Amino acid sequence: MSVFGGHFAIDGRAGNLRCRPDVTGIVVEGAAPSTTFVPLASLERNATHGSGASSKTPDRTGWEDVFGLDALTPGTLRTQDVGGQPVLFCKLNEDFYAYGVRCPGCGQALEGGRLENEILACPTCEQRYDLVHAGRGVDISTLHLDPIPLLKENGRTKVAITSRVQPSAR
Ligand code: FES
Repeated sequence: MSVFGGHFAIDGRAGNLRCRPDVTGIVVEGAAPSTTFVPLASLERNATHGSGASSKTPDRTGWEDVFGLDALTPGTLRTQDVGGQPVLFCKLNEDFYAYGVRCPGCGQALEGGRLENEILACPTCEQRYDLVHAGRGVDISTLHLDPIPLLKENGRTKVAITSRVQPSAR
């Protein structure tokens, strides 16, 4: 997933990117919109899934710097905490991809999964996901990983992290 100037929807409301007003859209490499469209609601749902937070609790999405990714060798993946949220990073050739850490199949951790070129096989049930096409399911097309926007800029790598706004912060 690439990001470039203009608008972007992270928090379920299209075009409402507070931290990068210059972002104009997202390119999902090689994806036809109809097959790899990730409903915004699912992104928001995933952001709250298991957090016990009600949909009334506002959330905030912002870019967080990621450090140490250059140590990741091509063809490998690892989970790393960013802004208090675990993120699964995958390196394919010289490109990085970021996803939620849980398998959408049965909710198990994806770390330890097998990478075959751009395909990630879940370590528990062997469901396969296409990392280059927004994590869409290879075996079950209705399943997809949770893509997390990743931006490389001026030698820095950032990911967009959604976090709950604590009542005192409002
Ligand atoms: S954990 Fe069951 S499909 Fe991945």
